[in-house]
Amino acid sequence: MSKILVTGGAGFIGSHACVELLDSGYEVVVIDNLSNSSKESLNRVEEITGKKVKFYEGDIADVELMEKIFNENDIFAVMHFAGLKAVGESTKKPLEYYKNNISGSILMCEVMRNHNVKNLIFSSSATVYGEPKVVPITEDCPKGQCTNPYGWTKSMLEQIFMDIQKADEEWNIILLRYFNPIGAHKSGRIGEDPNGIPNNLMPYITKVATGELPKLNIFGDDYNTKDGTGVRDYIHVVDLARGHVDALKKIEENPGIEIYNLGTGTGYSVLDVVKNFEKANNLTIPYEIAPRRPGDIDASYADPSKAKRELGWEAQYNIEQMCLDSWNWQKNNPNGYK
Ligand code: NAD
Ligand code: UD1
Repeated sequence: MSKILVTGGAGFIGSHACVELLDSGYEVVVIDNLSNSSKESLNRVEEITGKKVKFYEGDIADVELMEKIFNENDIFAVMHFAGLKAVGESTKKPLEYYKNNISGSILMCEVMRNHNVKNLIFSSSATVYGEPKVVPITEDCPKGQCTNPYGWTKSMLEQIFMDIQKADEEWNIILLRYFNPIGAHKSGRIGEDPNGIPNNLMPYITKVATGELPKLNIFGDDYNTKDGTGVRDYIHVVDLARGHVDALKKIEENPGIEIYNLGTGTGYSVLDVVKNFEKANNLTIPYEIAPRRPGDIDASYADPSKAKRELGWEAQYNIEQMCLDSWNWQKNNPNGYK
């Protein structure tokens, strides 16, 4: 049976990917330094699937530990979720972000090469498109200017992975550009557990719903969109996780390098999300219009047709289900995993 090394597997998306991998019959090995997660998420992955996860606590930049992992396990491919991801923090700590995300990934690739494991699926982001000239965004759309160091780490790592694959065609590398992942596993046992006050929209809304935060600040109502609030392509994290399993099947065909957008293809404004959340959960979310957040853009949503055509993947869950599952997770775990 193929073993998959999931870096950052205790995190939000990684834990959901572990569930889908285990349910699809793969064996899962996780490395995570728990800098933004808790080991409890993996206990719950085991509870949901009834299967074991082999967990190594540590850093992907710890070459000795990574060597040990590859020596002890017959790894077929790496799903690389490990990374720091807070946009605002990255503008204050660029060195930490470049070191963790870029140096860590380079050291990881060296260990992979030493062990002749050359199959990689990377968590990239729609942020690499910068301000898109047209929406929906296809993969051919040129990459743009990122507005923060976090975004640049994704853009630069994409380039690094492309160069690695170009120089050695034994590598198979799939770059998955996620749009805006929200939602949670239907069990309500795993979900997004940000530290402190959430930066992203849905975790902020669910904290308003629990009463922990008084109201949502909507960052700007003068964007060039139907109601003036920013439009994004929200995608259920379970759909996203399924996309990784489909990408893994593609890796088995030795595709070389490929890029796929993972989104639904539909854009929702901030107000649409608030209304859908209120309706799905029969709750009221107080909000106020606040100034624009620096770096935000009008609209970003995917053309996901390449993933459908080549991976046979398509998002299944709609915004209502995303709102139901986000709330189901938060209300059952008001303090996350703590
Ligand atoms: P997350 O913070 O929940 O998960 C990342 C995990 O990686 C955490 O468990 C953290 O402890 C771990 N980690 C970080 N640096 C590490 C290191 N050097 N060594 C070992 N473990 C390390 O974030 P997430 O939302 O699950 O995101 C997963 C990946 O997807 C990240 O690379 C992120 O940048 C990318 N991504 C996320 C989104 C999003 O909206 N959540 C969007 C686009 C891309
Ligand atoms: C952000 C990051 C992006 C990253 C993604 C996932 C920026 C500029 N972009 O995307 O690089 O890949 O998160 O981590 O930070 N909003 C509010 N009030 C809030 C929070 C958000 O009105 O309290 C609005 C935003 O202005 C935006 C929408 O909600 O229009 C979505 O915001 P968010 O969830 O932070 O995602 P992005 O900004 O799309």
